[in-house]
Amino acid sequence: MQTSETAFLATAARAAHLLVDGPPRILDDHLATALLGPRAGELLAYHRQHGDHPILAGARAQTVVRSAFAEAALAEFVHRGPSRYVLLGAGLDSSPYRLDLPGVPIVEIDHPATQSAKRAALAAAGIDTSGVTFAPVDLSLPSQRSFVSWLGVVMYLSPAEVERKVADLAATLAPGSELVFDHVLPPPLRDAAGNDYAAQVSAVAAAGGEPWRSTWSPTDAAAMLSRHGWQVLAQPSTRTAVPAAMWERTDALRPLELAALTHARLAA
Ligand SMILES: C[S@@+](CC[C@H](N)C(=O)[O-])C[C@H]1O[C@@H](n2cnc3c(N)ncnc32)[C@H](O)[C@@H]1O
Repeated sequence: MQTSETAFLATAARAAHLLVDGPPRILDDHLATALLGPRAGELLAYHRQHGDHPILAGARAQTVVRSAFAEAALAEFVHRGPSRYVLLGAGLDSSPYRLDLPGVPIVEIDHPATQSAKRAALAAAGIDTSGVTFAPVDLSLPSQRSFVSWLGVVMYLSPAEVERKVADLAATLAPGSELVFDHVLPPPLRDAAGNDYAAQVSAVAAAGGEPWRSTWSPTDAAAMLSRHGWQVLAQPSTRTAVPAAMWERTDALRPLELAALTHARLAA
């Protein structure tokens, strides 16, 4: 398994948000550039030179909104009791090193090639990784009250794989655990900009060996989760996942109707 190209593209989009977009900032991912390692210059140049292009602006909107939403939900979860933070398909997500999570064990789950690129970049930047466990994708999680962030991954799995993972999580995690994931909407639920984005970005992802393999409407995602004991707490769109004031802006960042987020809790 090669290093995930989509993990680099998502992280470049979060890093570029601070360089290309104006206020208000939706996410302050000040470690993202460091996590790109030697590829930072190359990947950020696209955003610096063509930042208003709808695909690049769309990538920034998707990635910063999903992380901002998940991180806000995580903060509330951690506030309510002893917690573990699990990043499923962690890629180069910098949240374990950015957020104030004292005493919260963190587990990053991804393929070893992507993890070793991340660990090299973390070491080169002098970022402390104590408190973080790096685990392979086939890990079975022990029962514990956990917040599972599953961002930018579900579209690369088949519907059956998504449902199997949701069932596995329900079978192993403690009641009260929470899950946040983003899912690409079926074409009729997208707007024109969302369909343009899907056509172009899914072709690039497929060419890089990471084809998009599932879409979920909010209704279908909720039904699938409820089959395995999850209660849906929220299913915001890209527009509604962050405060409305975040879209009062003069730059190119727009909330595409392309993907939604689902936040669910494992019933007691
Ligand atoms: C688009 S990246 C998203 C990374 C990160 N969550 C983010 O938001 O930037 C997708 C990640 O999912 C990982 N991935 C793909 N299939 C996976 C699987 N079956 N289990 C866990 N991770 C997987 C890839 O290696 C890659 O790092």
